[in-house]
Amino acid sequence: MRQGPAIAIAALLAATGAGAAELSIVSGAIGRDIETLRDNLDRFEEMTGHTVSIVEMPSSTTDQFAQYRLWLSAGAGDIDVYRTDIVWAPQLADHLLDLGEKGREAAKEHFPSIIESQTVDGRLIALPFYADAPALYYRTDLLEEYGLSVPETWAALEEAARTIQEGERAKGVNDFHGFVFQGAAYEGLTCDALEWVASHGGGGIVEADGTISINNPEAAAAIDMAAGWIGTISPEGVLGYKEEESRGVWQTGKAAFMRNWPYAYALGQGDDSAVKDKFAVAPLPSGGAGSAATLGGWNLAVSKYSDEPEAAIELVLFLTGVEAQKLRAVRNSSLPTRPALYDDPEVAAAQPIIPEWKEIFLNAVPRPSAPTKGDYNEVSKEFWDAVHATLSGDGDAKRNLARLEARLKRLKGPGWD
Ligand code: GLC
Repeated sequence: MRQGPAIAIAALLAATGAGAAELSIVSGAIGRDIETLRDNLDRFEEMTGHTVSIVEMPSSTTDQFAQYRLWLSAGAGDIDVYRTDIVWAPQLADHLLDLGEKGREAAKEHFPSIIESQTVDGRLIALPFYADAPALYYRTDLLEEYGLSVPETWAALEEAARTIQEGERAKGVNDFHGFVFQGAAYEGLTCDALEWVASHGGGGIVEADGTISINNPEAAAAIDMAAGWIGTISPEGVLGYKEEESRGVWQTGKAAFMRNWPYAYALGQGDDSAVKDKFAVAPLPSGGAGSAATLGGWNLAVSKYSDEPEAAIELVLFLTGVEAQKLRAVRNSSLPTRPALYDDPEVAAAQPIIPEWKEIFLNAVPRPSAPTKGDYNEVSKEFWDAVHATLSGDGDAKRNLARLEARLKRLKGPGWD
């Protein structure tokens, strides 16, 4: 007997589990991002009967953004849940669902400042996955050996880095470096350079009211200072380093200092790490106007083009929930976005950087994504290009910041106020 279509569909649903959705989520691709995501997804699958596959992304946030933009502007339904950088909300909002009442209810449990950054024209378009604020990683054993204290200014960092580098090379460690950071031409350099500039009192590139402030002597001094590190306390290769390349040098024991995000803490303490139990973290040095940390972090959002919006929202709620954030905190030293987890004794015991970093993250400097609206990525690209040129010896900061200002003025038009 031939089966009617309705019966065939019912049989199919019974076979696959009625109401079960097949979802896809993009990965982060740094450190232990993927394995921890998979463990959280396994738990979600067990609880809900849905299945979730991970679509692997490149490690650079800039490359991820380019890929997301292609998918979203084509209205592609390939990805249900996107992992979005804290600076992207205004640019992607049109392609993302409002997370509705359930989202708003859940939002009450997170730091309000992050929720605000993910709310565009009254629509809550993402929930916080984890927060980020950088640290100065330093080698406790080497500071002790060379009789140095933890540097609180960039000048002190330069001196300590030089002393240790010279000493280690004299011992025959020819590939030892004083300081590694993110010097490649991408979003990470915007983060590092904003810290140099802000800690010298040079402002925030574009201010909250839309004023373009970057062309000033303090900012120029900060960037020229960093240019002086290339080929001295930092390898030439740092001009191509993103987070993972810096961590690679650091974790094999080949650097005295590193600027990086908290994820490098858990990995540095791993059994395969050459610096296990030989390092600690401090706030980044000051350039005279106090230490400055760029605010980073990631959120989860649902594509407007998803065929399974309800299941996708359920997944976002789960992955931003207490249990999933706690696993990421304990295992990856990812900063929670829920105040309560900073008081959790298991989190503090596993990753002491987390309670220590609460204040640093709460006082971190935002990149100018809110005032520059849909133009943030172009603004950031112009900024990192000007900084990268200066670090590469292509003009000094004074010249390059004057050019940058002219470019930003053209980009702004009448648009950002
Ligand atoms: C980290 C931060 C993110 C930033 C990126 C730059 O992933 O969390 O906000 O844009 O680094 O590389």
